[in-house]
Amino acid sequence: MLPKSSIVSTKLNSIERKCSSNTLHLPPFSFVPHVNRLWLLLFIVSLQITILFMARYLPLHHRRTHFPSPEPDPCSSGRIYVYNLPPVFNQELLDKCDELNPWSSSCEALSNGGLGRKATGLYGVVPQELIPAWYWTDQFAMEIIYHNRILNHECRTMEPDSATAFYIPFYAGLAVGKYLWSNYSLKDRDRYCEMILKWVQDQPYWNASGGWDHFMTMGRITWDFRRSKNEDWGSNCIYMPGMRNITRLLIERNPWDYFDVGVPYPSGFHPRSDSDIFQWQNFVRNRRRKTLFCFAGAPRGAVKNDFRGLLLSQCKNASGLCRAVNCAGTRCSNGSSVILETFLDSDFCLQPRGDSFTRRSIFDCMIAGSIPVFFWHRSAYLQYQWFLPSESKSYSVFIHRDEVKTGRSIKNVLESYSREEVKKMREKVIEYIPKLVYAKPEKGLESIKDAFDVAIDGVLKRNKEHEQPGYKWRR
Ligand SMILES: *[C@@H]1O[C@H](CO)[C@@H](O)[C@H](O)[C@H]1NC(C)=O
Ligand SMILES: *[C@@H]1O[C@H](CO)[C@@H](O)[C@H](O)[C@H]1NC(C)=O
Ligand SMILES: *[C@@H]1O[C@H](CO)[C@@H](O)[C@H](O)[C@H]1NC(C)=O
Ligand SMILES: *[C@@H]1O[C@H](CO)[C@@H](O)[C@H](O)[C@H]1NC(C)=O
Ligand SMILES: *[C@@H]1O[C@H](CO)[C@@H](O)[C@H](O)[C@H]1NC(C)=O
Repeated sequence: MLPKSSIVSTKLNSIERKCSSNTLHLPPFSFVPHVNRLWLLLFIVSLQITILFMARYLPLHHRRTHFPSPEPDPCSSGRIYVYNLPPVFNQELLDKCDELNPWSSSCEALSNGGLGRKATGLYGVVPQELIPAWYWTDQFAMEIIYHNRILNHECRTMEPDSATAFYIPFYAGLAVGKYLWSNYSLKDRDRYCEMILKWVQDQPYWNASGGWDHFMTMGRITWDFRRSKNEDWGSNCIYMPGMRNITRLLIERNPWDYFDVGVPYPSGFHPRSDSDIFQWQNFVRNRRRKTLFCFAGAPRGAVKNDFRGLLLSQCKNASGLCRAVNCAGTRCSNGSSVILETFLDSDFCLQPRGDSFTRRSIFDCMIAGSIPVFFWHRSAYLQYQWFLPSESKSYSVFIHRDEVKTGRSIKNVLESYSREEVKKMREKVIEYIPKLVYAKPEKGLESIKDAFDVAIDGVLKRNKEHEQPGYKWRR
């Protein structure tokens, strides 16, 4: 179909052509007596006014009836059907938020639609107008955040027949949390997952694809769902046969499993509008940073040759150039302005692996406009491909852990970057901030795509790809 403007101008041209051919049939001025010339002129002018008038309305009328507006369809990648699960799989878990882990209640941490408690102590740390956009969000709250957003997604459909993707709003991470610890039985750890797979496989839309067009969120690291031997950690949820073809959004993926997709850990900044994002980007861009690098983490006292201990001692050795925050206990997971301030004040932040390969701290750091330094490829490069620049050197520094262990000075590596190079990397980090945050409004931001939007677009695109040759699952 022709674009709107060319249709209009084609119409106008044909009318003009008609107009000029009409005037050709009129006798030339020189042969007309002087008195009649004025009348002729008036006639021609009025004719042209009439034609112009028609020209204004004709194409508009045509456009309404024959040419639908060529606005791009926001759902061209497909629509999402959200299963209406029995409450035991989601709402009841939230209702029992004080029983989700063995130590303390999670009720406050999971309040506010998963964003958690409103942040305190940020006065003077972040611009005052942006304080209401900050929460002390729990790193495992992603299932609730995604569920709320998908329910309000513009491409959600109530008709399963028209869906490209089926979302299973099961809070897999919250359901398993408490059973990971103490001596719960294997059966306890696997119960919820067995229940949901039985439920979903009984649905008529499962059989059409064998699960290929289904997806779910699992708000913990993949290793909490991958027990292969009885004595190992976790549930065996992901190894259950029914899970085979389901796409899973996780805060840490197994890089060798196509069905695991890594998505950003929820962190504290939840912009309310596009303008919050722009303001924040400007704030971190213009921030005067006092230290070259920083490290927020807890050394493992008992572990010999602990890598984090090594980083901490390099940090201490660099004296004024490095700032360390001791995260022993839960000091860093509970939300704290000290961590945010440290990232805001540093050009680089060290991101070693923690108990697993990834850490929420990677996102806290980058959102603060600090450049991450990685020691393992699996910390980010093999995790969050939909959300980070494909060229890793453009926004981060990689120093192999073995070089650090054999005495390479992190300070020297970081000091070798010029001011210009640091500025360029930081600009890349800032450019990607929107893709690393979860917006506050349940409908998302006005025009900027946040981490949730990127994840859902990615799932829909995958499901379209599954319909191509090479992914033949349709029977
Ligand atoms: C472990 O299980 C035993 C037997 O079921 C029980 O007596 C004990 O209290 C449990 N220990 C913990 C730490 O839960
Ligand atoms: C799905 O397919 C399986 C195996 O072919 C069958 O046993 C089951 O009844 C089917 N379920 C539905 C809801 O059609
Ligand atoms: C997964 O998909 C394959 C086809 O690619 C199918 O044969 C298999 O039955 C599916 N698994 C389940 C649990 O439906
Ligand atoms: C810290 O500095 C001391 C003294 O210069 C040195 O002996 C030590 O090896 C350094 N430690 C690290 C981790 O670089
Ligand atoms: C975490 O936050 C809660 C709520 O304000 C507070 O009561 C608690 O002391 C905090 N815990 C730590 C370790 O800071």
